[in-house]
Amino acid sequence: MKLTVVGGGSTYTPELVDGFARLRDTLPLEELVLVDPAADRLELVGGLARRIFAKQGHPGRVVTTSDLDAGIDGADAVLLQLRVGGQAARQQDETWPLECGCVGQETTGAGGLAKALRTVPVVLDIAERVRRANPRAWIVDFTNPVGIVTRALLREGHRAVGLCNVAIGLQRKFAGLLGTAPTDLHLGHVGLNHLTWETGVRLGGPDGDDVLPGLLAEHGEAIAADLRLPHALLDRLGVVPSYYLRYYYAHDEVVRELATKPSRAAEVASMEAELLTMYADPALDEKPALLARRGGAYYSEAAVDLAAALLGGGGSPYQVVNTLNRGTLPFLPDDAVIEVQAAVGPAGPVPLPVPALDPLFSGLVANVTAYEELALDAALRGGRDRVFRALLAHPLIAQYAYAETLTDRLIAHNREHLAWA
Ligand code: G6P
Ligand code: MN
Repeated sequence: MKLTVVGGGSTYTPELVDGFARLRDTLPLEELVLVDPAADRLELVGGLARRIFAKQGHPGRVVTTSDLDAGIDGADAVLLQLRVGGQAARQQDETWPLECGCVGQETTGAGGLAKALRTVPVVLDIAERVRRANPRAWIVDFTNPVGIVTRALLREGHRAVGLCNVAIGLQRKFAGLLGTAPTDLHLGHVGLNHLTWETGVRLGGPDGDDVLPGLLAEHGEAIAADLRLPHALLDRLGVVPSYYLRYYYAHDEVVRELATKPSRAAEVASMEAELLTMYADPALDEKPALLARRGGAYYSEAAVDLAAALLGGGGSPYQVVNTLNRGTLPFLPDDAVIEVQAAVGPAGPVPLPVPALDPLFSGLVANVTAYEELALDAALRGGRDRVFRALLAHPLIAQYAYAETLTDRLIAHNREHLAWA
């Protein structure tokens, strides 16, 4: 089995490689190819990847290349984890929206739209090349904004599934609180990527007992503290929102905080410099503890699980993925991409039925889905007016004066990445 990682020179890659090494019985890789245009980073990351495989006795080869077509040739699965414009572009996404009093974040709000506009054309080009090389290859997309990028891929008929680590992170968090194994918990997970709620926590599988009410009664304080939301709000919601919902439920509070501290991009850039120095040390043969301070905890396990299920070798029968709605949430169009539990096998994901969603959540999901549709249109066809329409439709923007200013800033800060601007 051959798996290719596009964006393989990311400092995140050792997390992935560690997962591939530990979980090699679930996903028996013969070849892992790391593709990245940044040859210097790729060599450092590739070197560590080989040492991790060697230390853990993994028999697979690790190949590094800056030639995309050579890297995807013959791959059974291609994992996309790229960042167009790097942390420098992220730094901008997190900054200019704040000047209008709007959240500056890499996937939520105006910054997320900028990222979508930069990213969708690049990902579609890569996907086209993957399809040409092997029409049966699966594409696993970690590239943010995952909802919009996956929607673009599926619209073009690619064999693609979008993936995020929020659900697997909460599953592990809840398992820790309950003193159970993570695999014993089945989350009732519903919404869009980075806009989800856990509406149930079932023991053993989708039909097991729901322990969420007890979990909230006993550990609500700790869960709320983790999310940095009031405990009383959590009680009133009766479900557990992902931490991305704080950008909605506490938008103005977040904007005030962000205005007074260094951006996440700046923090990450300094961690990356430190990580790359560590990776250059030939004595390092495991993922460093510092990586745990990045947001991507457990993404390797989610990736292994999904690739194994798609390639027919095993994996969990139900997984939280980003896939086509096709009636699962009846208030959304069929071609919307939702993030829910799905039965996953070699034919791809099939969403499990979702119980009727409280209007408290479905209203926001519908609103952000409409924004995502307009965002994709802007990413595919370009033009100032399409950017404006997407921003005006976003529930965190909504006012025309903000949408006008943010449109100008988005274009000004991203001109070099936008073919039409
Ligand atoms: C979480 C999200 C990812 C995101 C990451 C950012 O894992 O699910 O989609 O890319 O956080 O983490 P970072 O360390 O780059 O801020
Ligand atoms: Mn994510």
